[in-house]
Amino acid sequence: MNRAELCEVALSLENNNVKIGEIPEMQSILGRPFPLVIEPVDKMNFVQLQEYFIRNNKNIIKAASIYGTVMFKGFEIINGEEWASVIYSSGLKEMNYVGGAAVRKLIVGTEGKIENPQVLTTNESPPSEPIPFHHELAQTPDPPSHICFYCSVNAAEGGSTPLIRSDFVYNWLMENHPDFIKKIEE
Ligand SMILES: [Fe+2]
Repeated sequence: MNRAELCEVALSLENNNVKIGEIPEMQSILGRPFPLVIEPVDKMNFVQLQEYFIRNNKNIIKAASIYGTVMFKGFEIINGEEWASVIYSSGLKEMNYVGGAAVRKLIVGTEGKIENPQVLTTNESPPSEPIPFHHELAQTPDPPSHICFYCSVNAAEGGSTPLIRSDFVYNWLMENHPDFIKKIEE
């Protein structure tokens, strides 16, 4: 990881217990790491990560805007309840999965109760079925501002959560297929 690619906001997320890390799949896009990876220096459980979120949530959200994705890797978060309690400290507003097309199972929370943080499975399709890039709930009037993924058990082999920056897709389309953009704008 080239630390020269890190801005002040990213560097502010480091402390004695937390550092900027890397994953093999990480890319450098327009001079910024994608995703920005945050790891514990030693070990941290969900209570410690929750405290970290309470102290740093504004800069975590800022980093999400700057880097497109912030990945918290290697923390001891053993189930959806623990993850929900961390996200509850993010300052993000929770919302129900309403109007979406995916089949999901509720893992944490109460069906229809928006005041309870909810954690749902991302998709119940068999692993053989690839899920193409898409925006979450883009077909609804009130899509989410942020999406928070949690992986409880890594796939024995393969497995991935492909992400792409929509602003880069838009810029690429604008440069290479401006007529197409014009057409869908009309
Ligand atoms: Fe989706």
